[in-house]
Amino acid sequence: MRQLIAGNWKMNGVFADVARFAGPLRAATGLGCDVLVCPPATLLAAMAQALAGSAIAVGAQDCHPDPPGAHTGDLAAAMLRDAGASHVILGHSERRAAHGETDAVVCAKVLAAHAAGLVPIVCVGESEAERLAGRAEAVVAGQLAGSLPGGFAGVIAYEPVWAIGSGRTAAQADVAAMHAVIGARLHAQFGAAAEAMPVLYGGSVKPENAASLLTLPGVHGALVGGASLKPADFLAIARAARTLPNPAGGG
Ligand code: PGA
Repeated sequence: MRQLIAGNWKMNGVFADVARFAGPLRAATGLGCDVLVCPPATLLAAMAQALAGSAIAVGAQDCHPDPPGAHTGDLAAAMLRDAGASHVILGHSERRAAHGETDAVVCAKVLAAHAAGLVPIVCVGESEAERLAGRAEAVVAGQLAGSLPGGFAGVIAYEPVWAIGSGRTAAQADVAAMHAVIGARLHAQFGAAAEAMPVLYGGSVKPENAASLLTLPGVHGALVGGASLKPADFLAIARAARTLPNPAGGG
């Protein structure tokens, strides 16, 4: 399977950024990975149009769990699909923290994404206090159990909360250990279907550390925040990615 490099623009980007990004991304040849760009919802349709016909996919950063209806200010999964998204990030720690998203809410959103034909990218990760208390693996296991419905099909992103936007990355041994735990949990929950669930690492991934993170066992790609806002940096990370010999979950 090819590693997946996904860019999460968060609440950044204006219309002019679409062309500034789409040009270099379209021009990049010889990438050995899959590439996904998740701009804010205001730019989804424009980005999807600008990348149409290329191998680069476009994703959203959240969706509402319900079908279209009376939810002022929200966006249904089907509307994101209609705008050109193929993926949707769900349960990002910023949404879990700032919007009180529980595992149950994330699980409902995953079901909505499935129903709309979007690939969910479900984020999990421990806080610094939880890691220091020795609870990192239990926290992540609980998030997986609570956020992933039966029949889940999609991507997992392991993002230690304290590594997001902080410039600090988790130690390589800790990343490898957590990816092994996640792989084992996915196998326990979903059996052979877990082989088709890539597990990304996220948290201050940048060109300088991409190669060392992307060669760790069980790391099937990266979810990139800050560094995804610069086309050159994002492409440098994508160039550090590769096609994996083993199926996801297989190490
Ligand atoms: P970062 O964000 O790369 O800026 O740490 C990652 C994320 O939140 O997905």
